[in-house]
Amino acid sequence: MQKLKKLKFQLINELKPQKFKKILDLGCGEGKLSLSIANTDSLITGIDKTPKIIQDKRFKHVNKDLLNFKFNEKYDLIIVSLVLHYLEKLSAKRLLIDCFKNLNKEGILFLICLSKKDYLYNQNKSNGFFSINETQNLIKSKPRIIKEFKTSMEKHKDNKLYHKHSGIFAIFQK
Ligand SMILES: C[S@@+](CC[C@H](N)C(=O)[O-])C[C@H]1O[C@@H](n2cnc3c(N)ncnc32)[C@H](O)[C@@H]1O
Repeated sequence: MQKLKKLKFQLINELKPQKFKKILDLGCGEGKLSLSIANTDSLITGIDKTPKIIQDKRFKHVNKDLLNFKFNEKYDLIIVSLVLHYLEKLSAKRLLIDCFKNLNKEGILFLICLSKKDYLYNQNKSNGFFSINETQNLIKSKPRIIKEFKTSMEKHKDNKLYHKHSGIFAIFQK
């Protein structure tokens, strides 16, 4: 078992050496995941409700709540990593469906989300925690990869207690 941070970067590396021009990173945080997969000519749009300063010419940070986000263009790669559990379940489902719809031909949806096995589920049962089956039923396309993960005990910046995470990781291709 691995720590979540290490696992995230190991998972996004599954997309290398593919090249992505237009990247959307929803709930981007500091944009580290999208920047790690971007090329010199990639254009990243990162949406996060918390203002962030990301000093990289390829990165455009949009300070917005995902509940108010509307697609008006298509992308080669959409990253949805560890953010759906902050949204109410119906909104999270709609967002996931919209992400897949708004991919360019052969575009990739890269998803990491928490499942009901995660300890946070008991605190937010009406939020977006997804199983493999639920995700596949929503996206209605055969995933290139879909698997469950469990992390080792760790402590994060926002939570002083040691805990594990359980979730799923998926790559869908349009
Ligand atoms: C656990 S962090 C994940 C960051 C990044 N995606 C990653 O995997 O490294 C969750 C991020 O989602 C953002 N977030 C949570 N709820 C949101 C919402 N309703 N709209 C926009 N961003 C949100 C938080 O501000 C935070 O930066």
